[in-house]
Amino acid sequence: MDFLEQSSHFKSADDCYELADGVKIPCLGFGTWKVFDEDGGAAVIKEAISSGYRHFDAAAFYRSEKSVGQAVKESGIPRDQFFITSKIWKDDLTPELARKSLQRTLDDLKTDYVDLLLIHWPRSSRRDMNWQEKLTELWGEFQQFKQQGLVREIGTANFLPHHFACLKGERPAVNQIEFHIGYEQTEALQYCREHGILVEGWAALGRAELLTHFQIKAIAMAHGITPAQLCLKFCLQKGVLPLVKSADAQRMRSNRDLFSFTLTANEMHVLSSLGQIAWSGEHPDTAIPFDR
Ligand SMILES: NC(=O)c1ccc[n+]([C@@H]2O[C@H](COP(=O)([O-])OP(=O)(O)OC[C@H]3O[C@@H](n4cnc5c(N)ncnc54)[C@H](OP(=O)(O)O)[C@@H]3O)[C@@H](O)[C@H]2O)c1
Repeated sequence: MDFLEQSSHFKSADDCYELADGVKIPCLGFGTWKVFDEDGGAAVIKEAISSGYRHFDAAAFYRSEKSVGQAVKESGIPRDQFFITSKIWKDDLTPELARKSLQRTLDDLKTDYVDLLLIHWPRSSRRDMNWQEKLTELWGEFQQFKQQGLVREIGTANFLPHHFACLKGERPAVNQIEFHIGYEQTEALQYCREHGILVEGWAALGRAELLTHFQIKAIAMAHGITPAQLCLKFCLQKGVLPLVKSADAQRMRSNRDLFSFTLTANEMHVLSSLGQIAWSGEHPDTAIPFDR
């Protein structure tokens, strides 16, 4: 069953997409960017666990992994009930640096494996001209991580179709890209669909910018739902796995309540026709964040 068909059967946020080799991933992920360890991040993650989230999207770069590790440990819920993602930052795209980074991540998460490890960005900067060779080597090391049981699944983030050719061997299980109403990246989505790669959508609310759009508000109101619920359901109805961050307990809960309504084909069409809105301004070749 492809991911679009899988998503049409979901009845709760605990339901899972099944990846190509049978690993299951909860269909909604809790984002941890800006849930900083030093700002009481563990309390936010604990609240998210109480709200029902078991899928956490972390990264070496986010300074959230100690919080995720602490909250998961103190929850008393077995580790295998969680799905934890981490990412190797763009400054660590060599096998040696990636291995060190993964070890720090495992230490911070207080776990001996992550469920999914992603290459965070395909190149370290606009001026990074030998990114293809680096990715080929790094992807070989990612496959080693998997064979050694340090990670269950490997994948990419912010890859467009032309970035995949240099990955030799195993196909990525997941590609995490900016995906939301107003920025659907149809070519990347189509490529991933054709190759059995699950797309995870980051900034599924357009970093909250979409929530005040008049047409989004009008369709949400017609269903008696919030604009955030509409944005998240839009991703699911496209066969995409949305990631959403909230530090607010009530919003955490309502963001999971997505299965008592369905957007009609006409509403999906209207939402897909709004033009480009709420784009972050980031791009994996030309506008890489924190590019020096
Ligand atoms: N791979 C990558 O390069 C990449 C890049 C960016 C993000 N990501 C991942 O994707 C996750 C999600 O993206 P994001 O955090 O940038 O943006 P987002 O989830 O689209 O938006 C987060 C913002 O929306 C607000 N919000 C959440 N639920 C709400 C609701 N129901 N009503 C009103 N406001 C609501 C949050 O505020 P409150 O906290 O106050 O609720 C926060 O300001 C990240 O946390 C990260 O894990 C990955």
